Amino acid sequence: SDPGLVARAAAAKAALGDSVFVLGHHYQRDEVIQFADVTGDSFKLAREAAARPQAEHIVFCGVHFMAESADILTGDAQTVILPDLAAGCSMADMAALPQVETAWEVLADAGIADVVVPVTYMNSSADIKGFVGRHGGVVCTSSNAKRALDWAYEQGEKVFFFPDQHLGRNTAVLEMGFTLDDCVLYDPHKPAGGLTAQQLRDAKIILWRGHCSVHGRFSLDSVNDVRARVPEVNVLVHPECRHEVVNAADLIGSTEFIIRTVEAAPGGSAWAIGTELNLVRRLAKAHPDKQIMFLDKTVCYCSTMNRIDLPHLVWSLEELVAGRVANPIRVDPQTAAHARRALDQMLALP
Ligand code: 13P
Ligand code: SF4
Repeated sequence: SDPGLVARAAAAKAALGDSVFVLGHHYQRDEVIQFADVTGDSFKLAREAAARPQAEHIVFCGVHFMAESADILTGDAQTVILPDLAAGCSMADMAALPQVETAWEVLADAGIADVVVPVTYMNSSADIKGFVGRHGGVVCTSSNAKRALDWAYEQGEKVFFFPDQHLGRNTAVLEMGFTLDDCVLYDPHKPAGGLTAQQLRDAKIILWRGHCSVHGRFSLDSVNDVRARVPEVNVLVHPECRHEVVNAADLIGSTEFIIRTVEAAPGGSAWAIGTELNLVRRLAKAHPDKQIMFLDKTVCYCSTMNRIDLPHLVWSLEELVAGRVANPIRVDPQTAAHARRALDQMLALP
């Protein structure tokens, strides 16, 4: 990265001292991650944000829904800053509040709204989390989806899971003993989700038709190819990958789990990793004694994570030095109060 910008970021951070805390998601660029006070998966970053009351400003190097969650979990005296407001998440954008409200009416028409517990993936907007909070549900991340679903099935008979069909299906089928027939796919672009009332009544889990375009690029062919090329390879994937990919993998988990697994692996072992490329490249650099490769042949960055680059980070920090707050993320208090209930429920999971 540009040495001039590196020096400016370091100087601004030093000038700000403890008044600023920089959080970095594992998918961030190296040039940004070097300035993170803490790195983590979305669950760890949510907890870290809530645990920093002394920092007046939290610069969140990640995507919009993560910064919103941090704002909801931090006190009024703290401001969360997203260095580029265009750092969104295409998956989170696949579930809009009016669509989810319509879907809830469809469930009510099928006579099941009273027995359905809504569970939203962290990768959703604050107003979706607010909806879930209002309806007695819970937020989950890729590191606690099974625990969140276990909790939800203690509260009701069925789960409505959004926006990531893959995390929902993979958790229900591979970790909880449900069958693929227990899952139905609700398509927000079709009348009544494209489902009959009977299909909804028979389902154990209703999955929203959303997905991550980055993880959606990995296919069963990617797994078969790498196994043919590197016979001893271990395939390690994120649960946002498609069901057939996760089913064919050796290990599945959140970005934090992926890092821990590679760190604990013996020297000389081979790992094909199905997640975002910045993280896989960093792991390969940090573990030259292990053979670490990207699961697919085509490059696969998350373009919105990559929007947070060093120039944006320098700008955010230098604005703070100048006494200005650029790009604050402020969730309206009413939405935040409802969303907080669903987030606190997640943080309280056993
Ligand atoms: P993690 O919670 O595993 O960090 O995943 C977040 C994410 O956006 C994955 O695409
Ligand atoms: Fe969203 Fe996928 Fe990027 Fe994660 S990797 S932030 S789910 S688009």
